[in-house]
Amino acid sequence: MIVDKNEISLSGVIGDPIAHSKSPLIQNFWIKKNNLEGYYIPIKIPKGEIKKKISCVKELGFKGLNVTVPHKVDAFYLADKLTIEAQKVGAVNTLYFEDGLIIGDNTDTFGFKNCILRNFPFYNFKKEKVLVYGAGGAARAVLAVFLNERTSEIRLINRTKERAIELKEVFSDSIKVFDWKNNNEALDGVTTVVNTTSLGNLGHDSFPHTLKGVKKNGVGVDLVYNPLETSFMKKAKQEEINCINGLDMLVYQAMPGFKRWFKKKPVYSKELRKLLEISLLRR
Ligand code: ATR
Repeated sequence: MIVDKNEISLSGVIGDPIAHSKSPLIQNFWIKKNNLEGYYIPIKIPKGEIKKKISCVKELGFKGLNVTVPHKVDAFYLADKLTIEAQKVGAVNTLYFEDGLIIGDNTDTFGFKNCILRNFPFYNFKKEKVLVYGAGGAARAVLAVFLNERTSEIRLINRTKERAIELKEVFSDSIKVFDWKNNNEALDGVTTVVNTTSLGNLGHDSFPHTLKGVKKNGVGVDLVYNPLETSFMKKAKQEEINCINGLDMLVYQAMPGFKRWFKKKPVYSKELRKLLEISLLRR
């Protein structure tokens, strides 16, 4: 391949709404740190318009895109090729435009696994008994990780039970589905809890359940990161569960895209974490 030294690398994130996205902060931080000639921009695309708009973005010479709400499933069907991770999860959050093709990937599995290992270096997936709250796109990635790691017991609870049952059917019969009202039963003897719902997000209802029943010093992960201390984290604290917010997962899921578009390995530094925290506190 002939590399044009004056080439400007472009990538971005598509979604609706998109103004709140932290992806531009993360990706442009890495672009600067690597002295690259490049830009990463947020692009608002309303639901149902991805197919039409994406071909324009591709024509403009973008290397690829991150994909957020509400396009993750549409992007899955639109891609010419899918990575194994995207196939496993059934949704796409990263696109690579390569050799005229649109390749769909899912980096949430990488993000989730690495955020756990960064915060709990001795975490033994196989020994855990986990309860996952929620049955949307984020839950699919989390379930895919636990199943891949052969976690000893995986439980799932969602307000709309049918959606949880659908995931059990798609992913594995070994997943135990609980009724939203039977939270106490679902938590009994659990060692890890994960919130993949939007509960606790700024402007949404707080996480309503108690986390009583989880082993003391167990692990908690809330995929919500705004506010930085979420309602799920507060509930976890009451039960002496070591709980993190979703900021680390956000950064890790951004890494594979950057690496493949810009051919440089991004680093998750304290400086980046601080910048993200400041930007969230300002809101
Ligand atoms: P994502 O792709 O980010 O996971 P999603 O597919 O919209 O987003 O899923 C959102 C999750 O949050 C779902 O599990 C949803 O529950 P339902 O399947 O019952 O809709 C959950 N959720 C959102 N608002 C909720 C609320 N007020 N109470 C309980 N669960 C809620």
